[in-house]
Amino acid sequence: MNKTPHVAIVGATGAVGVEMIKVLERRNFPVGELTLLASARSAGKKLKYNGREITIKELTKDSFGGIDIALFSAGGGISKEFGPAAVEAGAVVVDNSSAFRMDPDVPLVVPEVNGADVKNLRKGIIANPNCTTAITLMALYPLHQKFKVTRVFASTYQAVSGSGAQAIEELDRQVSQIVKGEEVTRDVYPHQIAFNALPHVDSFLEDGYTREEMKMENEGQRIMHHPEFKASVTCVRIPVYRAHSIAISAEFEEPVSVERALETLEAAPGLDVVDDVAKNTYPLPLIQAEQDNCAVGRVRKDCALENGLCFWVAGDQLLKGAALNAVQIAEALVAQE
Ligand SMILES: NC(=O)c1ccc[n+]([C@@H]2O[C@H](COP(=O)([O-])OP(=O)(O)OC[C@H]3O[C@@H](n4cnc5c(N)ncnc54)[C@H](OP(=O)(O)O)[C@@H]3O)[C@@H](O)[C@H]2O)c1
Repeated sequence: MNKTPHVAIVGATGAVGVEMIKVLERRNFPVGELTLLASARSAGKKLKYNGREITIKELTKDSFGGIDIALFSAGGGISKEFGPAAVEAGAVVVDNSSAFRMDPDVPLVVPEVNGADVKNLRKGIIANPNCTTAITLMALYPLHQKFKVTRVFASTYQAVSGSGAQAIEELDRQVSQIVKGEEVTRDVYPHQIAFNALPHVDSFLEDGYTREEMKMENEGQRIMHHPEFKASVTCVRIPVYRAHSIAISAEFEEPVSVERALETLEAAPGLDVVDDVAKNTYPLPLIQAEQDNCAVGRVRKDCALENGLCFWVAGDQLLKGAALNAVQIAEALVAQE
């Protein structure tokens, strides 16, 4: 891999894409050249990178000549259609969509958990995990290493930016309509999201779970290399702009204690322990927004499980759940010999 790669961002104008530009800047990623790609709607517009204006180009199959790393963030259909063209042109694709996550020839990577899997580049594509899964694993995986997790029961509290830029506008618009006493209009969600909670993220499967809910088990198994891991999840969209939170009850093979759990979590990379209930201190999405680290708190023995712990994790899903994780993968690619 070129040590100063030519990077392309596919979906540069989206909620994740604009964060990717900022993360590349903030982490001083050794960008040789940056190409910004989006739909024909955005072609010709400009975005700033390190103070320099870059003109957005329309994504086509010929967009990838000379590109070393292509960070895809424009939806699964675009990844399936254009990812292989990028690989054929010589780029390594880091894909944010769910298009390739369950492909056994495509590593699914959270660098703090299975960073070494970046080496298994059979298809030239590396998948970035589902956002709630990545944020959950930042706390669950260190506990798994110590106590061996068997299963989790979880509920998620997901921000609207997880549905993209249009959903942020929808929450803004609905709040303003309600304040002005106007009729509430909606385009993105099946119900009003302002001042509401929707137990519905992604499409429903025949068994009643949603696709999003099954990602924690399916992707968790691959990322932790733990094929027996089970997860029963209810995903809920809430009117928060940015950062997802997850309430988790985890059962372990080995006996657990809160003290040992906290010790383990304190030592975990990319994770802050925020846990002092006497001072009303616990992770909050409002505080985690725009933070690279995730936060864990409310750690306690689960009163209904044999070897169980309950905890609450919050993290910025546009960062650890998407842009930051993708750039960390790109950093691992550049660091490879
Ligand atoms: N939002 C999150 O928290 C999050 C977290 C993890 C993963 N992801 C995944 O990341 C991807 C992007 O999500 P997002 O939230 O950033 O969505 P978004 O805000 O709706 O942005 C979508 C991006 O895709 C581009 N795009 C759409 N149609 C295109 C086309 N035909 N050709 C080229 N570009 C096209 C858009 O360009 P225009 O502006 O020109 O339309 C825009 O840049 C999705 O696969 C999503 O599942 C998102």
